[in-house]
Amino acid sequence: MEKTFLMVKPDGVQRGLIGEVVNRFEKKGFKLSAAKLMVISEDLAKQHYGEHAERPFFGELVDFITSGPVFAMIWEGEDVVKTARHMMGSTKPSEAALGTIRGDLGLTVGKNIIHGSDSLESAGREIELFFGSSTEISYDKPV
Ligand code: CMP
Repeated sequence: MEKTFLMVKPDGVQRGLIGEVVNRFEKKGFKLSAAKLMVISEDLAKQHYGEHAERPFFGELVDFITSGPVFAMIWEGEDVVKTARHMMGSTKPSEAALGTIRGDLGLTVGKNIIHGSDSLESAGREIELFFGSSTEISYDKPV
């Protein structure tokens, strides 16, 4: 089954939005197969956001994502990569549709609550980066 990597960013954790985010994906019908509260090291942040290394906001991005705990998750389900991106909404909360996580709860492009893999390839890479060989929980979840 398809998998994606989702992460509640430090602003979402500080604002007490872990439950809200998890609830939306549970209610949609996706299956949570791994989750952990963690503080991202500078090294991990630079690897995770490597594609943005040349952007002017890269330093700010690394500082922010390492500034406090994040809630990292693996979710499973049909077309979960694309559907999760729809549920998250546009990167800029000002352009995100109401009904999406960023449209309903976000305010700024930097502090936009959630990260989600943008492709199957990114999902595989990010799952490996954040969860490596740690065991995912396998269980039945009727749709
Ligand atoms: P994310 O989906 O985690 O992937 C890259 C992140 O860069 C993105 O969410 C935004 O939070 C962040 N980002 C994009 N543009 C800017 C910007 N102009 N200033 C700060 N952060 C940005």
